[in-house]
Amino acid sequence: MTAKYDALAERYEEIFFYVADLGRQLIDFADPPPGARVLDIGAGRGAVARAALARGCLVTAVDASAGMVAHLAADYPDLTVHRMDAAALDFPDGSFDLVTAGFVVQVLDDPGAILADVRRLLSPSGMVALSLETQTVGRLGWLHDLNAEFFAVPDAPAGPGPMTHAQLDGLLAEAGFTAVERISVEMPRTLPDGPALWDWLADRGLADSVARLTPDRATEFRTRFLGHAETMRVTGGITLEFAATLHRARRTP
Ligand SMILES: C[S@@+](CC[C@H](N)C(=O)[O-])C[C@H]1O[C@@H](n2cnc3c(N)ncnc32)[C@H](O)[C@@H]1O
Repeated sequence: MTAKYDALAERYEEIFFYVADLGRQLIDFADPPPGARVLDIGAGRGAVARAALARGCLVTAVDASAGMVAHLAADYPDLTVHRMDAAALDFPDGSFDLVTAGFVVQVLDDPGAILADVRRLLSPSGMVALSLETQTVGRLGWLHDLNAEFFAVPDAPAGPGPMTHAQLDGLLAEAGFTAVERISVEMPRTLPDGPALWDWLADRGLADSVARLTPDRATEFRTRFLGHAETMRVTGGITLEFAATLHRARRTP
């Protein structure tokens, strides 16, 4: 898991264009005062942490990826940075007023246990604030089907599937948090044509997948991809419908 993030570290916020904006929105939603002690878990390149620093908070950022941690330490001298697994948060009880995690809970093995530990780390009236990507296929259903046809691994385990916003609110309640609140944010992005969509997805893993196909299959995939994308363009445009939910909750003593 960390190897994947190490590989992405250099261009992470360029590839995932929406995280910087969502980091600011998550901090606005949590609304910590200047001087608040903030822990950002799975900080990545600092989308959430830098927004908290900009408000004058005292920010500690942890991430399991050595690549992310090296960038954080170099980019933000005011940040306290540790390479640390979210499953082993090594801080005393009550160390923070706000704990944040931007697009992290859904990649953790046991998010419920980690949220219980987050509660331990918070001061008595402290807050947790989390963001979660909403999985929407929307008008890209054709791509979903094409991927399944060309890249499906026959015996792959089904896995737990993506986390829903209702499941996350449930985990927060189970971990002992109260006053659970959630808002939705939409971030549509329109691309001009099929080749632009191809380039955009190539950076996000498509190029690696296509490189594993035989040359004939790779050509067939690209031809069909561009055909579907052109249909999408002339029937309403190529818009990627990204959406996320922001969640906040209180550690009520
Ligand atoms: C999707 S990225 C989000 C980065 C950042 N929070 C943002 O909003 O842009 C997930 C981050 O969580 C980190 N991560 C994944 N599993 C982790 C774990 N068990 N403990 C700590 N960090 C972890 C990854 O290295 C990566 O930087």
